[in-house]
Amino acid sequence: MGHRLSLLMVEDSETDAELVVLELRRHGYDVALERVDTAPALSAALESRRWDIVVCDHGLPSFDSRQALCTVRESRPDLPFVILSGTIGEEAAVEALKAGARDVVLKTNLARVGPVVDRELREAESRRRLRGAEEALVESEARKTAILDTALDAVISIDHQGRIVDFNPSAETMFGFARDEARARPVSELIIPLSLRQRHHEAFARHLATGQSTIIGTRIELTAMRADGSEFPVELSITRGDLSGRPFFTAYVRDLTERKRAEGERASLEAQLRQSQKMEAIGRFVGGITHDFTNLMSVVGGYSQLLLRDVREDDPRRPNVEEIKAASDRAAELTRQLMAFSRQQALEPKTLDLNAVILGIEPMLRRVLGEDVELVTRLAPDLGPVRADPSQLEQVVMNLAVNARDAMPTGGTLALETRHAGIDRDADEHRGPLAIERGSYSVLSVTDTGAGMDAETQSQIFEPFFTTKEVGKGTGLGLSTVYGIVLQSKGFIRVESDPERGTTFDVYLPLADARADLPQPADPDTPPARGSEAVLLVEDDEALLRLVHQTLEADGYTVLAARDAREAIDICERRHAPIDLAVTDVVMPGMGGLQLARELRARRPDLKLLFMSGYSEHGIGDEERRALNAGLIQKPFSLPGLGRKIRDLLDAT
Ligand SMILES: Nc1ncnc2c1ncn2[C@@H]1O[C@H](COP(=O)(O)OP(=O)(O)OP(=O)(O)O)[C@@H](O)[C@H]1O
Ligand SMILES: [Mg+2]
Repeated sequence: MGHRLSLLMVEDSETDAELVVLELRRHGYDVALERVDTAPALSAALESRRWDIVVCDHGLPSFDSRQALCTVRESRPDLPFVILSGTIGEEAAVEALKAGARDVVLKTNLARVGPVVDRELREAESRRRLRGAEEALVESEARKTAILDTALDAVISIDHQGRIVDFNPSAETMFGFARDEARARPVSELIIPLSLRQRHHEAFARHLATGQSTIIGTRIELTAMRADGSEFPVELSITRGDLSGRPFFTAYVRDLTERKRAEGERASLEAQLRQSQKMEAIGRFVGGITHDFTNLMSVVGGYSQLLLRDVREDDPRRPNVEEIKAASDRAAELTRQLMAFSRQQALEPKTLDLNAVILGIEPMLRRVLGEDVELVTRLAPDLGPVRADPSQLEQVVMNLAVNARDAMPTGGTLALETRHAGIDRDADEHRGPLAIERGSYSVLSVTDTGAGMDAETQSQIFEPFFTTKEVGKGTGLGLSTVYGIVLQSKGFIRVESDPERGTTFDVYLPLADARADLPQPADPDTPPARGSEAVLLVEDDEALLRLVHQTLEADGYTVLAARDAREAIDICERRHAPIDLAVTDVVMPGMGGLQLARELRARRPDLKLLFMSGYSEHGIGDEERRALNAGLIQKPFSLPGLGRKIRDLLDAT
């Protein structure tokens, strides 16, 4: 059985049709024939099924071959159409071929029909293939365009001369050129920064000459340039293709600006975290040591003071005792600074106006700064109140001012400025050991025009004993104290410094809701008044207990001493005479000072209370103390200081 052939013949003569079929069978085809001889029949036949070929008689009585050809072309443009004729002249044949007939076969030479059909079938097949390939090409082109148009990366193709042939919408946005502006221009001029162009040209030329490349097929980071000349970091990968024997290159470009920014932010956050962890660790360490020192220094200082009372002015031993007293004062001061740093001071916070604090110490600041430094104050008129210990806040300003003075040995300007600041993003600022939390603040800025600091120095200034000053000039505790006080007041500190321009410290203190009451300056010069009241004294450190006991007795008081809370309660219960004041340590083995105070009050509601505290955080809170209407004295204390505190409490109504 031969090759199956669906043959549609437009022919009025059945005999002629039979002859053609016969000829084709002889040629080896298994022919399925349908013969039509009118236009409607032709149309119907074309619709009815698939055909391999149409053979059309030239001289039909009802309609001619030209019309038939049109009908076939309209519905089946690829279907081979061959004219069969006994009479066709050369001119008509040429015309038919022009109109789209594939061939003309003479009835007198029917033997040709077989080979003609062979050829037509072959060509029809290859036309079909070509059309399929074209369609596939159009489709793949459409798909490629869709991909390029929606790609998040910039996609840029260049030809072997480095000219841009493709420039997708992401490239337009990234680089700021429209596709039409970019096309056909050399890629180097358009998006490669001047500083990299030479390298690009060399690498491109080397690749074309040798096929070598260090960048094709890998990801690299580079700097690219926008239409406005600005440069930005990109990640790039390049592939090579070949088109008609010539290479072309496609680059996929990703803008790294945002990623780099985020990386930078993360790095600075990490650095800040490390710094704050380091400060915490140092704080704990320092806190542990100072705790033990507070009692020791109170004892040394206290006894040297008692000795001074007893040793006459002309006694040759007096200078020695004075030396001991001076050294212990200095040690107590150091201990106090370290306690401030490790946030163990008992603060006496008041609601106050930062501006008033600054105005209050301005005269003293002027004296400290000397004549070469000009002091400028710019105070915001509507500054909100803050809650802080006024004398500690003065300490902060003073330490910052003294540092500023030291940074301006040949003179300059020190500006004290206050302002309101709302922080609404946690990650806003990274210039201090701690990121500032969101919230509303009153800010004090202390700015000098001095020597400034490099980044290395800046990262260490808050650490205790970090100093760049020569031995004997600085202890490196000034900023540690500032740091501790500000943090303990729930504030934040930031520094910005530049060796060219000077330094600014910003102290952020959270806004307090109450109205400001003015800071009350302490009066340290009045001598302690003596007394005769009964004082219950509770302290677990025996040396300190003895010292205070002796001192108070020397001042005229009746002292009831107890080494712990139980003993104190015992005394309180057994004594029938009045007790005017209880002076108690806060942290003690067994019952602590706070609980003891409550027990004592329960028994004697009129009893006045004074806490001696070396701790703030583990001891007693501001509010608990307030609730008990109790006083507080910070260890290590001076004996006259204690005397004054006791007198004040006893005299208060
Ligand atoms: N305003 C400033 N300008 C330049 N450097 C400063 C400034 N403030 C502080 N510093 C640097 O920070 C270091 C630490 O300051 P800090 O106040 O803690 O200690 P100190 O001033 O050296 O000593 P102390 O204050 O204990 O007498 C200083 O030694 C100095 O290097
Ligand atoms: Mg200092």
